[in-house]
Formats: sequence, structure tokens, C-alpha cells
Amino acid sequence: MKFGHFDDQKKEYVITNPRTPYPWINYLGCEDFFSIVTNTAGGYSFYKDARLRRITRYRYNNVPVDDGGKYFYINEKGKVWSPGWKPVKTELDRYECRHGMGYTRITGEVDQLEAEVLYMVPLGYHGEVQRVKLSNRSDRKRSFSLFSYVEWCLWDALDDNTNFQRNFSTGQVEIVDSTIYHKTEYRERRDHYAFYTVNEQVAGLDSDREAFLGLYNGYDAPDAVMECESRNSHAHGWSPVASHQLNIELEPGEEKQLVFVLGYVEVPVADKFVEDQMINKEPAEKMMAKFRTAADVDRAFNELGNFWEDLLSVYQLEHPEKELNRAVNIWNQYQCMVTFNFSRSASFFESGIGRGMGFRDSNQDLIGFVHQVPGRARERIIDIASTQFEDGSAYHQYQPLTKKGNDAVGSNFNDDPLWLILGTDEYIKETGDWTILDEMVPFDNDESNKATLFEHLKRSFNHVVNNLGPHKLPLIGRADWNDCLNLNCFSETPGESFQTTENKEGGVAESVFIAGMFVLYGASYVKLCQKLGKEEEAERAMGHIEDMRKVVDEHGWDGKWFIRAYDHFGEKIGSDEREEGKIFIESQGMCIMAGIGLDDGRARTALDSVKERLDCEYGIVLNNPAFTRYHVQYGEISTYPEGYKENAGIFCHNNPWIMIAETLEGNGNAAWDYFRKICPPYLEEISDLHKTEPYVYSQMIAGKDAFKPGEAKNSWLTGTAAWNFYAISQYILGIRADHDGLLINPVIPEAWDGYTVTRKFRGATYRIEVSNPGHVSSGLKELILNGEKLEGNLIPICDAGSVNQVQVVLGK
Ligand code: GLC
Ligand code: GLC
Repeated sequence: MKFGHFDDQKKEYVITNPRTPYPWINYLGCEDFFSIVTNTAGGYSFYKDARLRRITRYRYNNVPVDDGGKYFYINEKGKVWSPGWKPVKTELDRYECRHGMGYTRITGEVDQLEAEVLYMVPLGYHGEVQRVKLSNRSDRKRSFSLFSYVEWCLWDALDDNTNFQRNFSTGQVEIVDSTIYHKTEYRERRDHYAFYTVNEQVAGLDSDREAFLGLYNGYDAPDAVMECESRNSHAHGWSPVASHQLNIELEPGEEKQLVFVLGYVEVPVADKFVEDQMINKEPAEKMMAKFRTAADVDRAFNELGNFWEDLLSVYQLEHPEKELNRAVNIWNQYQCMVTFNFSRSASFFESGIGRGMGFRDSNQDLIGFVHQVPGRARERIIDIASTQFEDGSAYHQYQPLTKKGNDAVGSNFNDDPLWLILGTDEYIKETGDWTILDEMVPFDNDESNKATLFEHLKRSFNHVVNNLGPHKLPLIGRADWNDCLNLNCFSETPGESFQTTENKEGGVAESVFIAGMFVLYGASYVKLCQKLGKEEEAERAMGHIEDMRKVVDEHGWDGKWFIRAYDHFGEKIGSDEREEGKIFIESQGMCIMAGIGLDDGRARTALDSVKERLDCEYGIVLNNPAFTRYHVQYGEISTYPEGYKENAGIFCHNNPWIMIAETLEGNGNAAWDYFRKICPPYLEEISDLHKTEPYVYSQMIAGKDAFKPGEAKNSWLTGTAAWNFYAISQYILGIRADHDGLLINPVIPEAWDGYTVTRKFRGATYRIEVSNPGHVSSGLKELILNGEKLEGNLIPICDAGSVNQVQVVLGK
């Protein structure tokens, strides 16, 4: 069952039934100011950091679901409704929500009165602009009131939700004309405030929640709205809000537009006040001046459209299947940008009050968008590397606002350091910017203790070499990529964190997954060394990698697949010897991507085992058989019911590793089959089962052992976005940025006739036409650049500004 449809021309998903199986969201903003908005106008805003600079309040896991947001109400002679259906839930004659690139447009219509709200965060702007268009489509005059509503958060979202003994007394606002300024804590240590304004004289205002709503009402029936009269309240403590009332008359056929701005302002400390404790409103007024009219909104909207057009134009596919085009050209790339911005911090599943930016997550997110915004990727790499410790280990997370490592979570996730090599290498391949390796980057954010980024990569590499276990495999530390394989945790106390509790100090558990990573990203490191002429270092590194390969051969192979790890007692995990968890996806993906077993048939055998034991209708599950009881020596993985999350859920993040592994085996049919199974646009028809948005990936789809296989959770913020884009664009469609040019190596289903990709790379444009006359999976018969035949599969870097025609003929 569907709840809407794609509008590819406009790059929008159009929801036509407000009762989606879960709130379907969009992200506004891609720089500093962000909003999350659902298809019924729920959600919240923040500046840079969802926890530390929360601008509007949100109550998670609410009843009814998703209550609270940027609401508008219309009261026409006692008939009350909202354009987004919620919160009033009056049945609408027409409802539509269009989620687009950085904006959302929600339209409702009742009795031929139409209200359209465009929500957007303009480029370079620290605020959300809402344009409300009211149209009288009837042949009679209409007079009604429009109410707006937002609820302020007292800045620190965690404290706001917990520290009521203080917070109920601190709320403060100022009101001037049509603007409500939120200034809680401004008198003391804060030098920022927020405001909510409309570009017209208002009939009334409210800034105290209780006055507006009435203590015992929900958002569906605020007193002020139901009685059609703002209370003109001024908040003193309790819960400050902001609401405007506008009385409107529309002649038949008449239309009226209003512009609301929800803004955030920082003021230099010396200029904080204008007079006795009154805030300096000048910067806010400047912001308001930018959006005085609907035409101002149009201009910003076009700018935003061009910005996205430009970003997405770097990789564009023309393929006979529309689902694939919309995934590759629009939604997957868009999701990559969103995960880049938020890591795992703010979604409808991540509360924005827990995690900041992840070290491993952010490096992986990078590989999905580095082609779009290389400049920002560069900055991100430096930010991440700055949280690394001298011994090469790293903070697991850091706060986006302070950019400092998060002490509460600490370090010792022993895969973390290696991801920095991946992120940096992908950046250099895309841009050719080798200067990044010379950047002086601090350790643990200590400006007095710096080394080049190259040195950081070396320490990442050495961190593995210096932390080997009894089999000479890498020690796993707290966990590797799988945060739920907590092999040194041994937790028997409720409430302990599986990630940060280590009851087995000096734990000796080892990871075959990290071994695979070391071989794979170690090779990237070697390549960087060679390119820099550091031959000796390259030799040394190659020696360690060779040793690791041998160790994997000796201790990492189970007969039909790669072992996953060794636990604290030296017992195998992910082995036929076990009752539960005999085989895991991660080590198959990582070891084969590293090339291990490609030359001796083991890779094929392992992939056949994946097919046989892990694959199901909805994707590849993480492990099998699922754990049916708690194994104290394995940790969190065995706490999840069978089929969910890391315990045999389809953890979409690592499905692409298997897709890539299949392409390395030349098996395009299998790679495509795995891709298609979890690719959101192909799941649109089963939205009622899948539940989450049909335009973005979710972290997890319930696996074959689950109560409800196929049901997804944790949409939007997941490494799945980057890895799937990486797999489809670089390994299946086979167009890959490399140090000296574009590598062309499609591995596709035999049935495909061909496709065209337009790729911008280092300033030049390449129009790459791939044809498959012999219906093969892989293998280049011909590669022609601007009419000239090339040997091999590398297109050299062409002049900046040039447009180049490339013909790729697949065949034997
Ligand atoms: C979550 C984490 C990620 C981890 C994965 C598997 O997605 O953000 O870091 O690798 O779970 O546990
Ligand atoms: C839980 C989740 C995992 C996540 C981890 C870190 O263990 O299952 O996906 O990475 O928490 O917060």
C-alpha cells in the first residue's frame, strides 16, 4: 500500500494521506540551522547542535505519536482546522505534503479555503522561514483567523526535559510588535536568543503556554484558538511559547501570503544589551528585513533549488528503471548529505540529546557525499582527526558545537582509527588535494600538541599493529563496527552501558573484522605512502599487512566462511562450532572487500554461505542463527529479540559490503539483487509493512526470525545511506574516482542493456554511456574517450571545464 508518490521532476515525495504508517520526515537546513519536519508539521529546530542549542521543544515517543511542532490553525466561524491535518485532525477536503530538497510544503483545504505552508531554511540563514499562502477558492467572501504556534526549548534539550525545579521558573520573553523574543538565561551566561515573527500587524499574541492552550488541553484544542482570541499573555517562567493571531478577510478568488520567521541570533557579549537587561535586537531585525515579502521567499527558494541542482549534478544516472534513477539521482544523495550533517544525532529515532558525531560513523558518511561538497568534507576530516589521541586511538564521539571528544563515551573502539584512512583516502581521490595530509592537526584537541594529518593516519595504522591479541589478530577493545559485540563487557547489572562498561579489563577478545579492515585500508595507506615517495614506510606497512593476511588465513577461516571474532576465552564467534551465531555478515564483507579469498575460491564459498544462511526476502540479516538467550560473554547483541537490530536484523549498513564483494567476484546479478531488496523506492508498494519513509534508507529492517519481517526502524541517520550510494555508484554502475582518473568497471545484471552516467570530476564533465550488447555482467570490451580508444579501464583526468564523451562497451 502506498501513501503518496514520487514527483521526480520536482525532486519531491508527495504524501497524499496524512495517516502514514509512521511520521514521515524531512530535514531543513544544511549548514548551521536545522529543522526536522514531519508530514503533519511536527518536529523541532536547533542551531548546530541538537542537544546544546535546541530552539524549539519536542516530546519524544509521545501519545499520540509526533505531537508538537510548527503548527498553524484556522478558525472560521467556529470551524477549526490545521493545514497539516494535525494537530486538530479535522478531516480535510484535500491534503498534500511535499517533502523536497531542503523544504517541505504542506497544503490543506476545507470548504474551498486553501492553506499552503512552505517550510524552508534558506541558505546562509540562521532561521526557518514559513510562507503561508491562503486562497479563497469559493465564490463568497471569507473571514477567519489564522494562529501560529511554536514552543520554545530552554536551550539544553536534556536539561529542558529533566530539570523542572529550575526550568519552570526561568522562562523569559520580550515582545515587540509582531515579534516574540525568547531570551531565557540571556541575562547570565548566554549570548544568544531566538525570535518568532510575522510580516504583518497581528490581532493578538501569546507567549505563555498555559494561557494559550489552557492547562488541560492538547494542541488539538487550544483555548485561544477555539475561542478565536489570543490571550496576549506574557510568559514569566513555566513554558514560554510563541503564537500570533491574524484576522483575515478574503474576497472570492483572493489570495494572501504571510511570511513567518523563526530565527536564532548570537550577539557579541559586549553588545548583548541595549538598555537595562533588554536584548539587542538589531541582528534579529536585520534577519527579519531579509524576509519582508513573499517575493523574498521566492528568491531564497530558487537559490535553494539551484544549490541542490548543482550538488546533485555531480553524479546523474539515466537508466530505464525510474526507481533506480530516483534513488541514485535524488534521494540517496540527499540522505547522504543529511547523515553528513547529523551523524546519528537528531532524527525520530535518535533524540538529539544523546550522541554527537561518531568517529567511525562520520568517516563512513563522508564517502557518500565527498563528491558533492569536498570543501566541507575536508573540514570534517580535520575535525574528526583532531579528536584522535597520540597513540592512534580515538574518541568514539564528539559534540558538533564544541568539536571536542565526548568523555562520557570515551575511546577504545578499535575499528575507529582505521576509518580515518578511508575518509581521507576517498577525499584525496575525489579532489586530488594532497595538501590535506600536511595539515597540522591536534591530538585530543590540544592545540599545543599537533602533527600532520599524514602522521595521524600512520598512528591509525599503527594502533592496530600495537594492539594485537593472542592469535595476532587485532584486539577488539570495547567493540568494533558492531557496537553490540561487547566481548570485554560481561555485564550482569541492569542499566550498565554495554559500550562503556568493561568488566574484563585487559580483555583479549579479537576481531577478524578489524583484521579485514586493516588489510583493506592498510592498502590504501600504502598507496598514499607510495604516492608521497615514502617507500620505506610503504614497505614497512606492507609487511604488517602481509602478516595480517596470513593470520586471517590461519585463524580467520572457518571452512565455509570467515570467522567473526574470538571471545575473551579464545573461543570462536561466527563459527560452525557454535550453536547460535554461526555466521556473521561483517567479516564476510570486509575480508572479501580486502581481497582475501578472491584468488582461491574462499570468497565465493563465503558468499554462497551468505546467500544460503543470511539472505531473506527483505535483505541480508546480520547473523544466523539468531541468539535466543543472553550470552554474557557476547553482550548487547544477544539482548535483542531474534531478528531485530544487531541480532539477526537486516542491518542495512553492511548489506552493501556484500554487494561490493559480489561485484569483486564479477557477479552483477547477485549484487543487484541485494541492492534492489533494500532500496527504498523499490519498497514503496509495501509502505504499510515497511513503515518508514519510502524515499530513504532505514538502519534496520526486521529480519527473517523477527515477529514481523520487513518492518523497518531508525530511518534517515545511518551509514546505510553512504554505503549504498558507494556500492551502486562505484561498484555496480562502476564509476569510481581514483588518484589518477576515473576508474570504469561496471558489474551489472546480465539483463541490462546499458545506461548513461554524467559525472563531474576534478572540474571536467564526463558523459559515460555504458552499453551491454552481449548481456554480460562485467568486463570491458571497449573504452573510448572522445573518439579515442583507451587501454585498460582508467579515464585520465581531462582539462577543467571540458565536456567529454565516454563510450563503454561491455563484453568478452
Ligand atoms: C549504529 C552505530 C554504528 C555502528 C552500528 C552497528 O549504527 O551508529 O557506529 O557501527 O550501529 O552496531
Ligand atoms: C545500541 C545500538 C547500536 C548503536 C549503539 C551505540 O547498541 O543497537 O546500533 O550503535 O547502541 O549507541
